[in-house]
Amino acid sequence: MPVAAMLDREELAARYRRNRARSRALFDLLADGAYYSRPIALRHPIVFYDGHLPAFSFNTLVKKALGEPGIDPRLETLFARGIDPDERAVAAGSAAAAERVAATWPSRTEVRAFAEAADRLVLDAIATADLDRPGHPLLDGAEAVHAILEHEAMHQETLLYMWHRLPLEAKRPPAGYRPRAEGREPAHEWIEIPAGRATLGVARGAIPFGWDNEFGACAADVPAFVIERHDVTNGRFLEFVEAGGYQTSRWWTPEDWRWIAGEHQAHPLFWERDGGRWYWRCMFERVPLPASWPVYVSHAEAQAFARWSGARLPAEAEYQRAAYGSPAGERPQAWGDAPPDSERGVFDFSSWDPEPAGSHPSGASAWGVEDLVGNGWEWTATPFAPFPGFAPMASYPEYSADFFDGEHFVMKGASPATGRELVRPTFRNWFRARYPYVYGTFRCVKNEA
Ligand SMILES: [Fe+2]
Repeated sequence: MPVAAMLDREELAARYRRNRARSRALFDLLADGAYYSRPIALRHPIVFYDGHLPAFSFNTLVKKALGEPGIDPRLETLFARGIDPDERAVAAGSAAAAERVAATWPSRTEVRAFAEAADRLVLDAIATADLDRPGHPLLDGAEAVHAILEHEAMHQETLLYMWHRLPLEAKRPPAGYRPRAEGREPAHEWIEIPAGRATLGVARGAIPFGWDNEFGACAADVPAFVIERHDVTNGRFLEFVEAGGYQTSRWWTPEDWRWIAGEHQAHPLFWERDGGRWYWRCMFERVPLPASWPVYVSHAEAQAFARWSGARLPAEAEYQRAAYGSPAGERPQAWGDAPPDSERGVFDFSSWDPEPAGSHPSGASAWGVEDLVGNGWEWTATPFAPFPGFAPMASYPEYSADFFDGEHFVMKGASPATGRELVRPTFRNWFRARYPYVYGTFRCVKNEA
């Protein structure tokens, strides 16, 4: 049977439709008026993403891979790419410059019409085109169609953390929404991980699809270490805040300290102080700070806490060993062989908020480390860099290569807003050390207890 005949076109089309419906539902949470706002200065205004998702899918699969003609060259170019500008350059840029950019965006009706045309042509291609061509730079292993499906799922998380920064009155909570309940804070505990091998990358062709930074195959020998059973909770992080952690330069790198001191930060971005009390900013409400939830912080803050507590952040290889290692060898998921589902952890949009640390013991790793996948990405100490044999992928050449600059750090695992298709051992996420918006948490490691 030819390889192309093995593509499950109906499944791919169903995934595309499910993605598009979920994106639409996310945009529908916004009150009128938020569409041209820019809740995070480092990102585009919201309108960009409404056009970017279908444009990327159309440009990548239909135009670049299959060589079909375009729909509207102006909109295809306008919506082609997201940004991750250098924070210093943006800080130096004027508000007027940002407004000039915002003024160039088309109307919502125009964006939606373009999206419908793009979706129609993408679905036509999924239904009938020759999507899997061995040796073709964009179609070998049906790369382009997998890339567009995962691209949209990843952006849905980006959308949610942008929506998180909007004023509460700019969002309409879904029917029946209630913030997650506060739970019991788990006891603090270290778990010993014996020395052993950790697989990092994977050989091309060994998994149905991966992004360029997941290849090629490589492994690391990891000496024994101890790791915290649970993520650092808001309750534990509060001790650092109350001990003056944000006012003490020695816990921070010089660059991180300049950022903290320069912006007068005194607590995590997801926390708010009001009337002498601490609150946590949920997507749709504000709740008294839940001590049992994992803290969401930047890499800079995670690292400062780790230093203050006499520990350090795990290296990427240590995360892999703690999550996927076992006395009998590595396992396909942190919890074993079963596919990802909502029993195993907080991911795949199963919750708008984090859940108390340790709420999913059936997702624990072989060593008993909990929530390594789900409830917040796990910061590592490892700068984002290619594995040996890295080659940029033809369907999205700038996906990783633009960020191998020593300024971005690897995150592993998943957050509540990470699609289940991204839950695999080799998937890597990365952000700048001082980017505080993401659903990123952490736990500490030490060489010995
Ligand atoms: Fe994108």
